[in-house]
Amino acid sequence: MALIAVTKESRAGETRVAATPETVKKLIAAGFAVTVEAGAGLAASYQDADYEAAGASLAKTAKAAVEKADILFKVRAPADAEIAALKSGAIVVAMLNPYQEKAALEALAAKGASAFAMEFVPRITRAQVMDVLSSQANLAGYRAVIEAAEAFGKAMPMMMTAAGTVAAAKVFIMGVGVAGLQAIATARRLGAVVTATDVRPATKEQVESLGAKFLAVEDEEFKNAQTAGGYAKEMSAEYQAKQAALVSSHIAKQDIVITTALIPGRPAPKLVSAEQVASMRPGSILVDLAIEQGGNVVGAKLGEVVVTANGAKILGVPNLPGRIAVDASALYARNLFAFAGLFLNKEGAFAPDFEDEILKAALVTQGGAIVHPSLKA
Ligand code: NAI
Repeated sequence: MALIAVTKESRAGETRVAATPETVKKLIAAGFAVTVEAGAGLAASYQDADYEAAGASLAKTAKAAVEKADILFKVRAPADAEIAALKSGAIVVAMLNPYQEKAALEALAAKGASAFAMEFVPRITRAQVMDVLSSQANLAGYRAVIEAAEAFGKAMPMMMTAAGTVAAAKVFIMGVGVAGLQAIATARRLGAVVTATDVRPATKEQVESLGAKFLAVEDEEFKNAQTAGGYAKEMSAEYQAKQAALVSSHIAKQDIVITTALIPGRPAPKLVSAEQVASMRPGSILVDLAIEQGGNVVGAKLGEVVVTANGAKILGVPNLPGRIAVDASALYARNLFAFAGLFLNKEGAFAPDFEDEILKAALVTQGGAIVHPSLKA
């Protein structure tokens, strides 16, 4: 019986956990054994006793959990000491952030681990239930609006009171992927007047169906800006200049700007210039969801609230899903439970088929080397 280890996340501020009592129970029913490091779920409000009641054994330390495990479940890349404790050939499943965290990949490769980066799970129908980018981005989009509302000195909805009318907040969402769509929906629910932009033409209809207004330069380049995989391409300098000119006057009138634009494997595109930030009214809020990939807003700083000379605030909140750790863990853990099903053969025995389309796409290290085509030097 294959043993899955779940340990506490070691990265500062990482509150999520890779399995919940619910998924432990399901993993055990599927034929795995599970060991959980004591306290692994505490930051997300999951108690040791509930993991035990679900059938997990508790390990006192991460080392004790990891050293016997066939599979290690993590949210982020394992710590060096955990990698050192792995059995040779063990499987590691995590959001490894492979383009930016090469050192962990190298350590995992050197250890002979078969490591899977959940970010590389292909977006095919069969893998939707394993899509960690979607499960986490959705919550991040929601939480970004909550952060903005909290920092904003005005109300979101229009209110008619005896003492006068409170105007609805104007919210502009830049980048309408999974996070952006949820940000639009959340801001609308709070009663804001919402506009949004993206470079992928398919987003226009999605934005409008959520009751928001779409704003973009809709030229030939825009019409071809979506890759076959459904992601954005890096836009030309010329397009970016046209887009910037269009959105400039718009940004100046917004109360809240939330940016979510990403291009897989590339630094985040800079969408809001220092001049555009400077054009906003005092008290305006910018939330930069792309901050961990370099940021969409010029002047945004990871982990900081930057107050600009004109009195706008740029929030560079890292790990937004971690601020809603109970749900983020629950969804992530279900993604991993579904993924673990790929390690079992038809008879339910532990026999990963490394030729499986999904496993193959997500495998980043194996047999002592970094094996993913997009990561090889
Ligand atoms: P992402 O996180 O890679 O990027 C966020 C958004 O930023 C994207 O909509 C992108 O077009 C936009 N963007 C990039 N450069 C920009 C620029 N210069 N200006 C404005 N916007 C810019 O995207 P995410 O959330 O991963 O979604 C990408 C696509 O994948 C979407 O079409 C989504 O619907 C699709 N998807 C498909 C799934 C499936 O089939 N299983 C599951 C989840 C998403």
